Amino acid sequence: MAASTPSLINSIRFRIERYPAKMVKGLASTLLDRYAGRCDRLLDPFCGSGELLVAASARGIRATGIDVNPFAILLSAVRTRGFEWSRAAILLRDLLRTAERKGKTLPLDLLGKDYWFTVRSLEKLERMRYVARMMRLHESPEGQSVLLALALSIRLCSKADDRSPKPFISKEALTRKFGQHLDPAFLVYLLHLEIQRLYGTRKRSNVNVQLRDMTERMTHVPQRIYSHVITSPPYLNAQDYYRNFKLELAFLSKLTETPTPRSEQFIGTERGPLMARVTLMDVEQNKALLPQLEDLERKSPRHAEIVHRYLADMRTAIIRLQKSMVNDGSLVIVCGDNLVCRTRINTWRVLNRLIESNGFTLFDSFDDPIRARALAPSRAGHKGLIKEERISAFRLVRPH
Ligand SMILES: C[S@@+](CC[C@H](N)C(=O)[O-])C[C@H]1O[C@@H](n2cnc3c(N)ncnc32)[C@H](O)[C@@H]1O
Repeated sequence: MAASTPSLINSIRFRIERYPAKMVKGLASTLLDRYAGRCDRLLDPFCGSGELLVAASARGIRATGIDVNPFAILLSAVRTRGFEWSRAAILLRDLLRTAERKGKTLPLDLLGKDYWFTVRSLEKLERMRYVARMMRLHESPEGQSVLLALALSIRLCSKADDRSPKPFISKEALTRKFGQHLDPAFLVYLLHLEIQRLYGTRKRSNVNVQLRDMTERMTHVPQRIYSHVITSPPYLNAQDYYRNFKLELAFLSKLTETPTPRSEQFIGTERGPLMARVTLMDVEQNKALLPQLEDLERKSPRHAEIVHRYLADMRTAIIRLQKSMVNDGSLVIVCGDNLVCRTRINTWRVLNRLIESNGFTLFDSFDDPIRARALAPSRAGHKGLIKEERISAFRLVRPH
């Protein structure tokens, strides 16, 4: 292992709880204090890294987290439930020993694998994948902690730059990592030590997490069970939720019971035939919500399609949420503005209108400046970036 261990440990610390557009701890606490005082059952339908669920769990609130990203679900599960570190350490030891001895591999289903990994790293990763599947790690909290360490190791032992959320091989990374054999077993071991330090106690948790697609129209929606929904939904242009996790998703594929999501299932997608799921009625309703769409359609039809698709997906998600909430329930949304093809869109305002058109009434709102958050200054003005987020709280009033 050529990389210096202190710098490696630093990047490991940084990596474990990193998640794109993660809710900051302070905001998660503020939202629960302000809106969930008498909460019977809470839902975060776009839970990501589970920041809100962790805060809810610490307050003893019964909560459910949903996300379409299996990595997000794994991270949220480990963070909220914890695990018995001594049992997990034995599992990890067995996995590493068996992978060292056994020659069998479970190949990564990833285009251009040699581009991302050295031959030796790839072989070790694929052996560990084989053993991880045999050991059915996803079935226990301890196994999940090991699976999380494995999934987190993939970026560190790839040739990609560790600093960027999106995997890409920068010149800097090429020079720094050139000729190094990045041993996945060593990285998994270090990562798991850190995961043990952070979450290695079994917690009594009222939180459950579910891998689901909030835009899935055909699946059953539990009726009228949540008193509170608090969430930060995906941003427009947020296809990077998929791109960012490309390597981790390839690694986790076939290691859990559920199939890996397709990139088009992520709300905010820019890929594929975007209008396939957008009806004529959606188009009309979208234009009524956002008159700028007419201009955008002329300026850049593809960008207009991205916005149409985003709004159609968010409409489906909000209708599902509405069905699953009790009368008088509260829905709290954290959202900002976005730049699409140099057009500034007040995404929060549009979502507010969409929510109000589905039976909700706004009862509170405030701005949360994001200057205090750890974002690279160079990203200021980037298409997804915003200066503050708007918190909007609604009450569901169903007609009798
Ligand atoms: C703004 S992030 C949420 C971040 C989260 N609050 C945190 O603290 O980490 C939005 C999340 O929506 C998820 N998402 C995108 N499309 C989805 C879909 N169709 N169904 C469910 N979740 C989806 C993404 O995977 C991402 O984790």
